Parts: sequence; structure tokens; C-alpha cells
Amino acid sequence: MADKFISIQSAMDNASKNKKVAVRGWIYRERGSNKMKFIVLRDASNIIQCVLKKEKFEKQWGDIDKLKIESSVEIVGEIKKDERAPTGYEIDADKINIVQIAEDFPINKDLNEELLGDRRHLWLRSRKMTAILKIRSTVFGAIHEYFRKNGFYEYQSPMFQAVQCEGGSTLFNVDYFGKKGVFLAQTWQLYAEPAIFSLEKIYTIAPSFRAEESKTSRHLTEYWHAEMEVAWANFKDIQDYGEGLLKHIVETVLDKNRPELEVLERDIKKLEPTIKKNFPRITYDDALKILAEKCKMKVPWGKDLRTIEEDKLSKLYDTPVIVTEYPKEVKAFYMKETEGNSKVVNGCDFIAPDGYGEIIGGSEREADQDKIKERLIEMGEKLEQYDFYLDTRKYGSVPHGGFGMGVERVISWICGLTTIKDAIPFPRTMTRVTP
Ligand code: 4AD
Ligand code: MG
Repeated sequence: MADKFISIQSAMDNASKNKKVAVRGWIYRERGSNKMKFIVLRDASNIIQCVLKKEKFEKQWGDIDKLKIESSVEIVGEIKKDERAPTGYEIDADKINIVQIAEDFPINKDLNEELLGDRRHLWLRSRKMTAILKIRSTVFGAIHEYFRKNGFYEYQSPMFQAVQCEGGSTLFNVDYFGKKGVFLAQTWQLYAEPAIFSLEKIYTIAPSFRAEESKTSRHLTEYWHAEMEVAWANFKDIQDYGEGLLKHIVETVLDKNRPELEVLERDIKKLEPTIKKNFPRITYDDALKILAEKCKMKVPWGKDLRTIEEDKLSKLYDTPVIVTEYPKEVKAFYMKETEGNSKVVNGCDFIAPDGYGEIIGGSEREADQDKIKERLIEMGEKLEQYDFYLDTRKYGSVPHGGFGMGVERVISWICGLTTIKDAIPFPRTMTRVTP
């Protein structure tokens, strides 16, 4: 068919001007009698009902009758308003080109999570996954926009690394030509800090790998990590950038993805405060007090906040809440000691509302190389592996800091998902690396 194809959405948007339209896509639903076939056609933009009358298709009827869901077709016809149709419009087809008659589609309403996981490559076509993937695309775009608008350079670190940054327990070992001690990146950080002496303000969006042995609704073994690092920045600057980034992401999604949020039945009122209000910033000590007073949860000083405590805390706010100044022992070796209190560090976690957990982790970086060495030795690390990193503190060290944001955690929260696995096309977890 030599017609100029347009998207289903644009066919509907321009229906009053252009009556004759050519669209193409996949069959989302179909039903028929011996006189008519109703097809709901799906493309990336939307769905539309098409009606094929047998009298117009005598020659092709045999094939039309065989059309099952997910068959690919091109349709030309006249579009008109129809209140009864699922999206309010119908195409009265004049021509159809059957591109492929699909075999029986192996997905139906009764599949459990495991089987849907096995058929993930096909499940991506669902309206739910399509909506999430569109929002995911907006989120990635918004991250780039935010950092570039604020004068950051995009910068990349290696994925094969010979140092740990976020603790040895979640490192993925790689067989690197038989060499031991090579891991997949947990974070870009140790390779990002050297570059701020060149570019000052940098960011990346890259995969990070964590050998998480936990099966939770918020852990992946491979996730996309948006990270930033800035020279001449103090602890407050880092928190301000994190808050600015999250506001920009949510604002952009609310601007571009209302229809998708509707498909996902996400209550938009739950996202709006994030744009409008300042995020509360509380210290770890405050958090313990609040948990004790308002949630009757006693956390002994020095213990990290567990998922259950983060969840309780998050339910007290309608925006992300920033928790600062954690005990040194529960945080990474590179975090700066808080001035006047050597027990705590200038590290911060952003906890998302509604129990979506930690979406950003960041800190001001320790400038004192002796303190860094001391903590590396305490952890049993070989100092010479970190020579390149310690050099950053020897040649023109400046106050600096940065953070990392788990992109799927943010998507999960924005979309209101029950599991982080739906925030990424092909989730990798402890129990799944296929398809
Ligand atoms: O808190 P984390 O471990 O911090 C770092 O990696 C720092 N080096 C970042 C930096 O300062 N440049 O990880 C950062 C964020 C977490 O807040 C969380 O949102 C996400 O990464 N994250 C995960 N997301 C999905 N699955 C996992 N297994 C994750 N582990 C961390
Ligand atoms: Mg963290």
C-alpha cells in the first residue's frame, strides 16, 4: 500500500480535518461474525477500533477471518467519532494489508509472574509495559536535561574495576583472563572523582551491578545509575542538586506522560507535592526520635535504618525526605566526617514517599587522605589498589561531593509499581537472567 502512514494518535487528533487515514500496527483485540470483523489496532501511540465489512473484502475474507491477536496489519479507511469504540473513534476500513498472521499469542490473563517473566520479550507489548517504557524514556531524557541545563559534562567510567566502593558483599567477580580481583562496577564514583579536577561538574547514566542476594521489590542485580560529582561543592549543594533533579524529573513526567500515568492508574496528587514543596531534611538523630515518637520503633543509635524503618518514615511525608549525618560505621569509607562530630558523616539518603525506599545516596567526600587510608585499612583493603584514588587528595584537593540515583527506583515510585522489575525491560535479579 503506497499510503502515507500516520500514528493512531495523530489520526484521532486530526480526525476532523483528515477523514481518510492509513495506520499500521498489531491486533490488540478482535471479534467478528460472518459479515464483519472488529479489530482493535495497537501502535506505539494508542489503540483504535477498525471495522472490516465482508462486502468490501470478498477476496481477502479468508485471511481476515484468520487474524488473531498480535497479527501485524496495515489499514486504510475513513475515521469517524464513535462513542462506543474504546478510544472514541473508529476506522471504517477500505483496504487491509496483512503483514503477518500471528500464531496463538502465549500470553493471557491467567499467567503468573514467573511465566510472564519467561515471556518478558512478548509482555513488553502490553499497555502497562508500554506506558512504563514511555515514562522511563521521559525520565532518562529529564536526567540529561537537568544536568546539561546546570552546566554538567557527561562523563563515563569503566565497568571493569579492580576496587570496591560500596562494600565487598555485593561485588560481582569477573573472570578477567584468569586475573583475580576484577569486578563489575557498583558505581562510577572512584573513577569520577579524578575527573572533577578536569571538568568540575560531571554526570553519567550507566548500568551498575550489585550481587544482591535479596529478593525484594526494590533490588536488581543490574540497574541504571544516574550519578553526579561536583568540585567546590559542600554538603548542602549536593542535597540541593538531588532535590532539583527529582523535582525536574517528576515535573517532566507530569507534563509529558499524563495518559501513561492514567493507564497505570497512578494517583497524580501523590506526585504533585514533590514539585511544590521543599523536601524535609532531617538528621539521622532526628529520624530516630521521630521513629520512636510517631511510629513506636526503637532503633539503637549506630544501626542503619532498615527497609521497615525507612518505610514508616516515608509514610510521614508526601515528598521525598532527606536523612543526613549517619553514623560513620554504616556508611562508605569516602564520606566526610561531620565538622564537630567525628561519629557521623556528611552522607545523605533520599527516601521516597509511599515506601519506595532509598532513591538517592550521596555525600560530601572526605578530603583528608589519612582518614581515608585508616578506614580502608579497617575494611581490610589493600591500599596500593587505591593509589590512583588517593592521588585526588594529593594534587589540588578541593571540597567536593556527589550522589547516585537508582533510576528504576525512581521510575517505580513515579509509576506506583509493586515491583522494581517492571521498571526495566529485562530485569536481572538473583533468580533471573533470562530471557
Ligand atoms: O547508595 P548507593 O550504594 O551509593 C553509591 O553507589 C554512591 N557511590 C553514589 C555516588 O555518590 N556517586 O547507591 C546509589 C543508589 C541508591 O540510593 C539506590 O537508589 C540505587 O542506587 N540502588 C539500587 N537500585 C536498584 N537495585 C539495587 N540493587 C540498588 N542498589 C542501589
Ligand atoms: Mg545507599
